[in-house]
Amino acid sequence: MLLQTLSLFVLMPHPHQCLSVHFQNKGLLYVALGRDLVLRTQFQITPTEKIVMVIWDRQTEKGQGQVRLADHQDAPGNPLDQKGALFRVENIRSSNFGVYTITVTDQKGNEQSANIVVREIVAAPVASLSLQCEVANDRAQWDSPVFSWLVDGVELSNQTANISADGKRLDVSGMKGHNYTCVVNSSLGTSVTHYVTDSPTPSQSNQSCKTLCGVLFGIVILLLITCGSLYW
Ligand SMILES: *[C@@H]1O[C@H](CO)[C@@H](O)[C@H](O)[C@H]1NC(C)=O
Ligand SMILES: *[C@@H]1O[C@H](CO)[C@@H](O)[C@H](O)[C@H]1NC(C)=O
Ligand SMILES: *[C@@H]1O[C@H](CO)[C@@H](O)[C@H](O)[C@H]1NC(C)=O
Ligand SMILES: *[C@@H]1O[C@H](CO)[C@@H](O)[C@H](O)[C@H]1NC(C)=O
Ligand SMILES: *[C@@H]1O[C@H](CO)[C@@H](O)[C@H](O)[C@H]1NC(C)=O
Repeated sequence: MLLQTLSLFVLMPHPHQCLSVHFQNKGLLYVALGRDLVLRTQFQITPTEKIVMVIWDRQTEKGQGQVRLADHQDAPGNPLDQKGALFRVENIRSSNFGVYTITVTDQKGNEQSANIVVREIVAAPVASLSLQCEVANDRAQWDSPVFSWLVDGVELSNQTANISADGKRLDVSGMKGHNYTCVVNSSLGTSVTHYVTDSPTPSQSNQSCKTLCGVLFGIVILLLITCGSLYW
């Protein structure tokens, strides 16, 4: 009965009520197992309003197993400013995923809530390495430059390589070429630029070869001396 009255009260429009709460991230968040989760919200109140209660709940995405996570009540000398606005979960586990709901209540009993879905991300986002071709130009031109890419003299297309839609960026992750060329062509003329990677230098084997050669040379000298003294 009390709940019905309360929900009716909440559903009814309150023209003078300005209390509101919202999450800084909208709607949906992904977190990897074992990482931390920080949920930040913001309250909006008018100067005459005062937040007296902040509650955090979690339930599954199917709306089951609601758990009360935090219940901040206003206490003298302990004002509920934005303190209850932040909720933190360290070392997140499977059971921590679901729908997080924050409910704030003001001194008149007005209630506002907001929720966010927190899902597990199974694989970390894939990193990639790109070359970006830029053309510096402050002169007016009627057309837009066209970018093309060559690797070791072979022209690339968006079928054979990951080239951004504007043509400026080439994803070089896993590419084995040494000479990357960008050609920029427009009504202002053509410009060509290269990025050439060093051919792999066996610097370490260079060093160890020197050491090895030194040791071998020493052994040969030693043998010669030993043999010489034996012969004599
Ligand atoms: C790189 O390739 C371009 C186009 O094929 C060529 O003009 C240029 O000389 C090459 N540069 C090097 C250092 O190999
Ligand atoms: C382009 O990138 C996507 C992921 O970023 C990758 O799965 C795909 O293999 C790449 N394609 C080429 C041709 O490199
Ligand atoms: C690939 O290039 C062709 C022709 O340059 C273009 O029509 C097409 O939209 C491009 N596709 C992608 C995915 O960028
Ligand atoms: C540049 O564009 C012009 C006009 O589209 C074309 O005739 C010319 O062959 C292009 N040059 C290069 C190097 O792509
Ligand atoms: C490897 O050895 C050669 C010949 O001694 C030398 O010219 C070159 O600089 C060395 N490279 C490195 C990385 O030490």
